[in-house]
Amino acid sequence: MCGIVGVTGRAPALPLLIDGLRRLEYRGYDSAGVAVLIPASALPSPGAADPASGIHESAQPRYVLSRHRSVGPVSRLAALLPDTALLPDTVLLPDAAPAGHGTAGIAHTRWATHGAVTEANAHPHVDAAGRVAVVHNGVLEDAARLRRQLLAEGEALASDTDSELLAVLVARAQRAGSGPEDAVRAALAGLHGTWGVVFAFADHPDVLVCARMGAPMVVGLGRAPGGDPRHDRTLVASDPQALLPWTRRVVFLEDGDLALLRPEGAVFSRLDGARRRPQVRVLDTPLAQVELGAFDDHMDREIAEQPEVLARALAGRLAADGTVVLGGIDLPPRRMAALPEALLVGCGTSLHAARVGAALFARLADLPAHAAEASELALHPPRLHPDALVLALSQSGETFDTLQAVGELELRGHEVLGLVNTVGSSLARRCGAGVYLRAGPEVSVASTKAFSAQVVALTLLALKLGRSRGLPAARATALARALLDLPDALAATREACAAPVAGAAALLSTARAVAFTGRGLSAPVAAEGALKLLELAYLPAMAWPGGALKHGPLALLDARTPVVALVPDDETRAAALTGLAEVCTRGAPTVVLHAPGDADAAALATISLPVAAADPLVAPLLQVLPLQQLARGTALALGRDIDRPRNLAKSVTVA
Ligand code: G6P
Repeated sequence: MCGIVGVTGRAPALPLLIDGLRRLEYRGYDSAGVAVLIPASALPSPGAADPASGIHESAQPRYVLSRHRSVGPVSRLAALLPDTALLPDTVLLPDAAPAGHGTAGIAHTRWATHGAVTEANAHPHVDAAGRVAVVHNGVLEDAARLRRQLLAEGEALASDTDSELLAVLVARAQRAGSGPEDAVRAALAGLHGTWGVVFAFADHPDVLVCARMGAPMVVGLGRAPGGDPRHDRTLVASDPQALLPWTRRVVFLEDGDLALLRPEGAVFSRLDGARRRPQVRVLDTPLAQVELGAFDDHMDREIAEQPEVLARALAGRLAADGTVVLGGIDLPPRRMAALPEALLVGCGTSLHAARVGAALFARLADLPAHAAEASELALHPPRLHPDALVLALSQSGETFDTLQAVGELELRGHEVLGLVNTVGSSLARRCGAGVYLRAGPEVSVASTKAFSAQVVALTLLALKLGRSRGLPAARATALARALLDLPDALAATREACAAPVAGAAALLSTARAVAFTGRGLSAPVAAEGALKLLELAYLPAMAWPGGALKHGPLALLDARTPVVALVPDDETRAAALTGLAEVCTRGAPTVVLHAPGDADAAALATISLPVAAADPLVAPLLQVLPLQQLARGTALALGRDIDRPRNLAKSVTVA
């Protein structure tokens, strides 16, 4: 869940660590911290502890762990650090390293699981003597019992976290005579739970040890073969994005792996001590384009980018006659024709895209399909036909619940195909085959463009399956035309909705609660609209299929409980209008998404949001954008942080 970055090299570590944290902040932003190894001689008064800067030391050490932590975003942590922490890249040359600067360190940006959001609970954690520091992503099972045991054995603990226990256990193993690697191995061997973890050692100042069990961890090899050893640098992070400015050569750890890092390179092994031959990959992913440009926030930029994202997601995959080429999902026609059912799994926005996909598989390919919440599926996997088509959807490719569900499905013998945005992520590596979404890096916590890219990929797959299962060529051609027209239709919708969305956002910002409704294909889009609004505006927002309103939800409605209704021009329109009339009768204001010329829908709307007319099967891709704008506009009116809603994180890598 949390963001981790570590480095051991020959140049100052702090600038790189802070840069890495900034790139990883989407993983959590409750608090942040950094610990760097510095020579004891660099202390203001050698040999004395400095409680203000969080410096720990024991008798006569040569190196100490200098730690800074802060509640809040990385910018607040950076403000605590000396100016040299923010030096430009050029100063990261060994020759220029100012004396006394730490060249190894670890850093962390947190999304709280165990322990409240306080400085004491922020990582890195250290043992009481300050000889071992740890940053941890994951959750230890049975942590309460272990904590009681360590306290009973006389250990001092300074936080409420499970992570601190790791530092204590490793320090104990060190005191018993183990070197860094064996101490970590000994500590982890007795534990259950999940970890992506990195340790730093005051007694081994150029060594870091990292390990993985259920939480992502990637080692970056900074020494170019034959390169200048003065530039040696070995890195580790929870996400390759943090490494990209420094190296492209990486090794992804697998569960049960451990690695010992020194400036000149890394040694990989298993928890049981067996050596592991690393598979070095060369990343060709671009650095995340995090510049805001003319936009106010990343969500604004990502919403606006969607026409372009749709064009990219379609490029080279769809011919005008409806022929679909998805390189990563190359099922023979006979297998497609014989598929008995399909299951799509995901969480949050990815689950809503999966629901749209399941409906499209049923309509276009006559394939019984359903979407499942990954966290529930991992608990109670359904019994599926052995030949079922199974898909896992994820923007990040790191969502713990989705990875766990995939593990359960694989255990039952299913091959799982991935629909993933982040190249090289855990899910992408785990699924032997699948499709990349091509949405580009998504920074804002509330997912927008990844949803659109997922729905496009699923529409293409439905079309491909459909052609092997009886979908007439003429229908495929018509849908292909609608898909190819989408980027323009979406740009037009964005433009047309800008002004009315502002009015609708003002309306919603005074609401007690907001009800969303849609039927058929629009039902999961309504659910996505409600999710966006509650994530960003912190308003109670619920979605029901239109027909369900009269079975309970109507009791909620009044002048301060608006209804956002999706009324597309398809077979659900008549029933949707009937439901909308019932809403108006109860005095609730309405925000209605409908085709530009639909006078009946407009007559029932307090505010109309015009959605370009298109083939009904691509309507979700047009409807979702005004709903994203609406959530953002409402949140802005309420003064919320758009890109970092409270209590959430972009990538949830814990259970
Ligand atoms: C978190 C994010 C959501 C996201 C969900 C699934 O809850 O806050 O925005 O939809 O995870 O993420 P994934 O990366 O698997 O699509």
